[in-house]
Amino acid sequence: MPREKISLIEIYGSASKKLLIRRELSIQDLNINLMSFLQNLGLPIASSCQGEGICRLCIVNESVISCGISVKDLPFDKKGVRKVSIGYL
Ligand code: FES
Repeated sequence: MPREKISLIEIYGSASKKLLIRRELSIQDLNINLMSFLQNLGLPIASSCQGEGICRLCIVNESVISCGISVKDLPFDKKGVRKVSIGYL
């Protein structure tokens, strides 16, 4: 039986130019809303509309509204790594 590929996420701060978090993703993680996932990791994702998709404060990767997608919706490279950059961190 082939070994299941490990899925990873790397979260970068654009302002600090630092890798903030690198961790494995579980199947459960993939189905979580991206903004909630990042907030659950303790990252201060801005929001004034609480995920209604109106305020656009939760943008990551320059133009992705994080409250509007799931972790699994992030594109990933051939090593299975999904990347998120947060402009103000
Ligand atoms: S939290 Fe307001 S648009 Fe995402």
